[in-house]
Amino acid sequence: MPGAFITIEGLEGVGKSTCLDIIKNELSKHGHKVLVTREPGGTQLGEKLREWILSGEPGSLSAKTEVMLMFAARSHHLEKVIRPALDKDYWVICDRFTDATFAYQGGGRGASREWLENLKKMIHVDLEPHLTLLLDAPAEVGLARIANREADYFEREDKDFYRRVREVYLEISISEPKRVKVINATKPIDQVNDRLIAVINEFLFHRETYL
Ligand code: TMP
Repeated sequence: MPGAFITIEGLEGVGKSTCLDIIKNELSKHGHKVLVTREPGGTQLGEKLREWILSGEPGSLSAKTEVMLMFAARSHHLEKVIRPALDKDYWVICDRFTDATFAYQGGGRGASREWLENLKKMIHVDLEPHLTLLLDAPAEVGLARIANREADYFEREDKDFYRRVREVYLEISISEPKRVKVINATKPIDQVNDRLIAVINEFLFHRETYL
């Protein structure tokens, strides 16, 4: 049986890592081969770029440079990891993908939407995630949850930046309701987990309607 490409998106502090574990367990339980990866990252080059970007001084990169670095890492990731795994019938779960570039660089930094659309077409016109789980919470909620850890390049941005990021994520979910499932991440953890399991099972058992 062919695999599928699932992405997980959301602001910082919304619980993506727990979500990844739950999805991975659920898919493995059903006997699927699972590969978990992330962006920026997932390859040696991607991880180096990630480390370099996230440890940088806020404001040190322009919106255009951020966009190009994200898409450079993504292009390599698609060539070396994501496409080969899908070809071998793996289920690929990716912690962030192109929606994050639309949200963070488009919404947060104001990068041109048309420009982002063109780059997306260049890099993966033939491959969209089959399912995207958007863990949604107001900026204040996520930021409060990460307040005690050392902030990286993006985490030092203010609430308005994150409000714009969230707005774009929600816009994408409205324009692509079939692909993007919104999970209310402000609910108690048990309810979030139950909803995740329900969404992934709905996808597993009615997969043909998503493709
Ligand atoms: P995280 O995966 O640990 O949340 O960290 C990755 C950071 O990179 C996060 O702040 C979102 C940001 N990012 C972008 O700004 N654009 C992108 O295209 C991607 C994939 C991530």
